[in-house]
Amino acid sequence: MPEGESVEQVLTALASKASQCTRCALAATRTNVVFGEGNPKSPLVIVGEGPGQQEDATGRPFVGRAGILLDECLAECGITRKHIYICNTVKCRACIVEGSRVRNRPPMPDELKACFGWLDQQLEAIKPLVILCLGAPSASTLIHKEFRMLAERGTWHTTCKYARYTMASLHPAFILRHGGDAFQTYRSLLVGDIEAARKKVIQARKDAKVDLLQ
Ligand code: URA
Ligand code: SF4
Repeated sequence: MPEGESVEQVLTALASKASQCTRCALAATRTNVVFGEGNPKSPLVIVGEGPGQQEDATGRPFVGRAGILLDECLAECGITRKHIYICNTVKCRACIVEGSRVRNRPPMPDELKACFGWLDQQLEAIKPLVILCLGAPSASTLIHKEFRMLAERGTWHTTCKYARYTMASLHPAFILRHGGDAFQTYRSLLVGDIEAARKKVIQARKDAKVDLLQ
């Protein structure tokens, strides 16, 4: 971070640069670059996959159906958007046009690679204590390449250079693709993982104090 600049100033400057980005093909079809928002001083950052239709239209992360589910799960842990910072692994919507329908698709490896520079600078500026990845693209970018969500979600990793602790959980859009018992089961896993992240922040704050005394 340039000396004398606040994290807010750094993020505002980055978001402004990113809004002009043409580093990958997603630039051609986006309406807005969705850089991220929330409390830049937050010890907890949530990193999703990428913007969907509503996010593309508004320029804000997690405002569609998946965002509403995420907000409900956060609220069950006493967390609001003002407490945390939320962004995505890719900043522009990835979609496929099928006749008159436009469908979201996961970002491709070249798009993830092209966009990583923005996430890198964003996380370097925020320096969170804890990162919660939502979905496989975020987990494989920030935890490890071969990340398998159902087998590895809910376990803590200390190998990500941007935060002391990193964990991945189920993406709310994945949860929404299920009905009945599966929906409830997956939703409970996400709430449990958010609660674990909240507790981890408390632990990480204690760890950081101990570090200073060493
Ligand atoms: N899904 C994501 O991963 N991110 C958003 O911003 C919205 C939906
Ligand atoms: Fe740039 Fe990322 Fe958007 Fe691609 S997805 S154009 S790299 S901001």
